[in-house]
Order: sequence, then C-alpha cells, then structure tokens
Amino acid sequence: MSDLKIFSDNIPINGKRIIVRLDLNVPLNESGVEDDTRIKLVEPFINKLLEKKAKVILLSHLGRPKGQVVSKLSLKPVFNFLEKKLKAKIYFYKGNIDNKAEEASNKLNPGEVLLFENIRFFKEEESNDELFAKKLSNLGDIYINEAFSCSHRKQASINKITEFIDSYGGPALEREVKSIELIIKNKKTPVTCIIGGSKVSTKINILSSLSKTSDTLVIVGAMANNFLKLEGKNVGSSLIEEGSGIAVKNIKNFAEINKCKIIIPIDCYVSSNIDGKPTYKTLEEIDSKDMILDIGDKTIGLINEVIDSSNTVFWNGPAGYYENEYFATGTTLIGKKIAENTSLKSLISIVGGGDTIAAIKNTRLEKVFTHLSTAGGAFLESLEGKELPGIKVLKKK
Ligand code: 3PG
Repeated sequence: MSDLKIFSDNIPINGKRIIVRLDLNVPLNESGVEDDTRIKLVEPFINKLLEKKAKVILLSHLGRPKGQVVSKLSLKPVFNFLEKKLKAKIYFYKGNIDNKAEEASNKLNPGEVLLFENIRFFKEEESNDELFAKKLSNLGDIYINEAFSCSHRKQASINKITEFIDSYGGPALEREVKSIELIIKNKKTPVTCIIGGSKVSTKINILSSLSKTSDTLVIVGAMANNFLKLEGKNVGSSLIEEGSGIAVKNIKNFAEINKCKIIIPIDCYVSSNIDGKPTYKTLEEIDSKDMILDIGDKTIGLINEVIDSSNTVFWNGPAGYYENEYFATGTTLIGKKIAENTSLKSLISIVGGGDTIAAIKNTRLEKVFTHLSTAGGAFLESLEGKELPGIKVLKKK
C-alpha cells in the first residue's frame, strides 16, 4: 500500500483541472437517485477540491451500456442530484471526448464542476483504447482515481489514462485498499465466504479461488438455484443461468480438492411473481410456478451456525430478492448475525457490494462491520489476491 501514489494536500491544485474518476453507478428510480451511499462517500473530497479552487472534472460509468448510448443509463439524474447537493456550480457534458470537451474543461472557473455523460457510452472506454485515454487525459492536469469499486476493470478512464497524466489514488480508494489489505493479512481461521447475486458464470473464478482460502462457502441468492438444479432439485420458474452446470461442477470440484465445505439453501420462500407475497416451502414442495425469492428459516439457522463457528466472514451479495421487502428477511438476518458477532465475539467481517449495501440500508448494521466496502467485483478480486489493473498503475515507479 505504501507504494501507491496517493493524492496529498500538499499538491497545489488552485486553478488546475482535476479529473476525478468516481463510481456514480448508483441505483436509480423514477424520481432519481435511490441510494446515494457511493456519492456520500466521495462528497467530502470533491468539496475539498472545490474549496481549494480546483476545476473539477468528473468521470463515471453507469451500468453496462457496452459502448452504446442507452438513454436509461444516462448520468443526467445523478447530475440533477449533484446539482442540489454540491455547493458549487456544476455543468453536464454530453458530447464526444474531443477538442470541444477539452474547451469545456478549460472554460470552467476555479471551484466549478463538469460532469461527463456515462463514459461507457464510448466503446473505446471498455477496450482501454489508447487514443481515447489520451483524449480523456487532455481534459485535466491531474488525474485521481476515487473509484476503488471500478479498479478491477482494465478500462480507459481507470487504467490507460494514467499513462498520459500525473495520476494518484484518492482518499476513499486509499481507505478501501488499506482496510482490505490489512484484513486479508490478519484474517483468523475458520474463514467463511457468503456469496449471493445471480450470475455464477461471472463469479466462477472468484468462487473457485475463494475455495482455496476459505473453510466454508455459503451460496445464496439466485446463484444458489443453479447449485440446487445440479443436485436434481425442482426450482420451478426461479431465475436460472442457462448452461451454468459446468461452472457449478467446476466450483464444486475445486472446493472438494481444497477441502472447503459448500452450503446451499435447504428451504426457501417462494412466490409466483417478484412483486408477490412469500410462501414458505421445503425444496421438495416447490412446484413449476414457484420462484425462489428468499432463503428459508432452516437455511438461516444453518448460516447462523456457520457464522458462529467462524472467526472471519466475507459477505458479498444479497440472499434474496430484497427489492421486495417481503423477500429481504434472509439478507437482513445474515447482516444482523454478522454485525452481532462482530461486536460481541470479535468476528472479523468485511461486507461488500452495491446490492448488499442497498439491501441493508437503513438498518444501521453498516456501522458495525469491521469493514464495509462499496465495491462488488473489485472487493472479491482483492480477496482472491489479484492485483487490480486500476491499482497497479498507481504504484510509485
Ligand atoms: C460496481 O457496481 O461494482 C461498479 O460500479 C463496477 O461496475 P461493473 O461491474 O459494471 O464494472
């Protein structure tokens, strides 16, 4: 960590154009920003730059538009939110990253902000394109990565840009890297990883590699349906990832070789649609119309026992369809148990991921965990021991 270039207060920024890569990939609803946790986290730093009369250029992605302009993934609602929140004048830039964009950043007055439209509307962002990164770098004099949660992506505004401009990590990024490093170094066995979410295929490498360093893997959320299916259970009309059988088999093989126990749900709450009400079912009772939307009471009991016998717990991903409060119980109870053991039994706990944070929002649990990470993929890849492409480039030469 000490080998990272971190932005410090001694660097003169008065009147300079400071590009800050943020993670403004926040949940939105019809009225705008639904959960502002990621914004709150970086707000003090942005305000500090503005107080010091920097010209602040904000870059971020929202969702995965894959190089296309997708109107529902516009950062405009986030701009509207920031306009009310920040004490400074803020502008929104929707055009290409070219001379005009450079002019707009030059024209800013000290203490003003320019937010660019979703950077992933350009295919060159995801391909880490050199020319595009160079053009991005021309928007500023200094670059700061304040998006740890995006630093596992080898993309132009995270990785390539640093080749063309004086680059630093921001304070929130520093906090995340330090905490995760420290906890990985000091973790105490037995170690349990509780992993939720829906896609097994995107997490296959992570799950296989976590099985090397953990004693128990608890699989919850829609991802668990694929494990149940492979065991020949009827999952009705639950969310299933087609062709996931091989991924699940590989994870199970890896876990067996590494003597890591895998726990999957043994009962559940179902409904015939995601907006419905819950009915308790054992796995044997599930019929073709049922969608599994939360873990059941016996599964919660089992997970509580595992948490009680663990000294370190990593948790990423909700246990059910928490967006409907009837199916948020499993997630909340896992959070409560981890929090309780953290404060009463010195359990080391790291909880991460945008969805996990959104699911436990308003429970006050987030203050209790040893570390709460806003990152999902970046958090899991750090646990794997991988060097993240956005962090590697911030190393002192
Ligand atoms: C996240 O939500 O974890 C970050 O914004 C990264 O998003 P990504 O997985 O689409 O790169």
